[in-house]
Amino acid sequence: MISMQVPFLDLKREAAIHRTGLEKALARVMARGWYILGPELEALEQEFAGMLGVPYAAGVASGTDALTLALEASGAVVPGRGEEVVTTALTAAFTALAVWRAGAIPRFVDVDPATLQIDASRIEACVGEKTRAILPVHLYGHACDIVAVLELAQRNHLTVIEDACQAHGSRLEETAVGAFAQASAFSFYPTKNMGAFGDAGMILTRDHDLLLRVRKLRHGGQNRAQHHELLGYCSRLDELQAAVLRCKLPDLEERNEIRRRLAARYDEAFSGLDLLRLPVSRGLLPNRHLYPVRTPRRDELRRFLKECGIETLVHYPVPLPSQPAFRRFVLPGQEFPVAQKAAQELLSLPLYPELQEEELQHVIRAVRRFFKA
Ligand SMILES: Cc1ncc(COP(=O)(O)O)c(C=O)c1O
Repeated sequence: MISMQVPFLDLKREAAIHRTGLEKALARVMARGWYILGPELEALEQEFAGMLGVPYAAGVASGTDALTLALEASGAVVPGRGEEVVTTALTAAFTALAVWRAGAIPRFVDVDPATLQIDASRIEACVGEKTRAILPVHLYGHACDIVAVLELAQRNHLTVIEDACQAHGSRLEETAVGAFAQASAFSFYPTKNMGAFGDAGMILTRDHDLLLRVRKLRHGGQNRAQHHELLGYCSRLDELQAAVLRCKLPDLEERNEIRRRLAARYDEAFSGLDLLRLPVSRGLLPNRHLYPVRTPRRDELRRFLKECGIETLVHYPVPLPSQPAFRRFVLPGQEFPVAQKAAQELLSLPLYPELQEEELQHVIRAVRRFFKA
């Protein structure tokens, strides 16, 4: 097989595409000399909220902070009372860390065996007297069963905050993922479909009071300069990052479409192989943030692809209930067999808009060769 290096992701390629716009944006901020809570952030908030069809947005320092501040500003949890927030066993650890930072205890629910999203049918078994909120994750840029989650939350008088940190531009029945619940959190970590040149995040909401509380909380709890009403955070999305993100926003839809085309090529090439792909549920337009596949021979496949020069990652190798940091939050008798099995089988293949045709073909050939197809 021809030798070729295929990186899992190459952000230099994306920067090269946006270079002129990025240089202009950075020059604009420097000329203005205004670096925190200025016009770039205000414009970004309006543009991002507008694209997702949600009235309000507030930029913060990261996706983790977006989750933490949304939980706190929703009033769902009062820090220190041992209140609980239910979330999925299979996600980035930051989801559950945000619950802890907001002063609550994360409780975990196993995932659906086909979609690997939180298994909505198991949530109610985890709801107890101290449960205040559900934090479902739209994993991999697919969508969890948010309609079922909202229904059972209403039945149980719980707040829902969507973790849409991987789901920029994904849609479910024409509605943007992240536009369903009282509030949602997005991450602009550099590797996301819309990434900053550092950390950044955003809260979207239809609730004006929640927006006002987030605005206070992110800026030290001030209601006006030097007057601190709340015990807030220092969590602002700075002007340089906002300018970078404004430069990328207009291309998001088109870039997601390229990802979908590449994913369709993988789907077609891998059909018939002994390799599980994530099903796309009806009505879902995923942003294809990641392209995870599953096989019990994951480690062998990963080694083989590495020998072929193909870089892969695992999302996620250890379910949260098995992480030392979170084990204490597992309830007696709770088990997570679906997430545990998935964690041993999952492998994410390179998929990003700048992936070249020959690179795509190299990955396809290598995977097919591994399965002797
Ligand atoms: C599902 C999920 N939740 C939360 C986060 C946290 O976002 P950030 O890294 O911007 O704090 C991430 C990204 O790492 C994520 O993928």
